[in-house]
Amino acid sequence: MVLRKMNLIVAVASNGGIGKNNDLPWKLTKEFRYFVNTTRRLEDASKKNAVVLGRKTWESIPPTMRPMKGKINVIVTSQKDFVAEGKDVYVVHSLQEAQELLSTPPLADKVETIWQVGGASLYQEAIEKKLVDKLYLTKIRKEYDADVFFPKYNEEDFVEISDPHVPEGVLEEDGVEWTHHVLQMK
Ligand SMILES: NC(=O)c1ccc[n+]([C@@H]2O[C@H](COP(=O)([O-])OP(=O)(O)OC[C@H]3O[C@@H](n4cnc5c(N)ncnc54)[C@H](OP(=O)(O)O)[C@@H]3O)[C@@H](O)[C@H]2O)c1
Repeated sequence: MVLRKMNLIVAVASNGGIGKNNDLPWKLTKEFRYFVNTTRRLEDASKKNAVVLGRKTWESIPPTMRPMKGKINVIVTSQKDFVAEGKDVYVVHSLQEAQELLSTPPLADKVETIWQVGGASLYQEAIEKKLVDKLYLTKIRKEYDADVFFPKYNEEDFVEISDPHVPEGVLEEDGVEWTHHVLQMK
């Protein structure tokens, strides 16, 4: 079986922070909409995208907003008795199991893009094991108090590419600026 690679998507503060008290450290509506739109985009409307997420990131989503609508939601946890309700929700016990689930029928044929949406240890594992196709990285130009940080990675493992769907230049909301980047893993 050939295991499918995944795209990572993350927004990172200038001090590396990505989370605080199991929530985002910021409220940037426009940046959040970018996340929703990017992970929703499909070439083939008969397919769906998948999101792979750690148990804490799953729990950070308000119950009324999970599972993420229109997507296959795959939650990674070590808890063998973990239960998550909802349409198109799967619980797995390793990142490899998530990849296997999404690389074999019936889901392999249904899923267009696998988006791994955090948190920190899943990002780290995907980068270290080179399971990444592209890294969709938002660089927020402000420091935030955080208790979860994006892992250090070797910039030489990636090359920046352009994606016509990704806005260029500096974006801003309430005085906070950020830029979007797409990095292809070599
Ligand atoms: N800025 C962003 O773009 C962004 C994106 C995503 C999340 N976040 C933020 O990041 C924080 C959550 O991230 P986090 O790093 O604390 O937690 P997380 O990665 O979402 O969840 C950690 C949990 O996932 C499970 N897990 C992770 N790797 C596993 C593996 N290889 N095998 C089995 N289970 C595994 C474990 O669950 P069990 O303990 O149940 O075994 C672990 O405790 C929140 O603050 C969230 O808002 C930010």
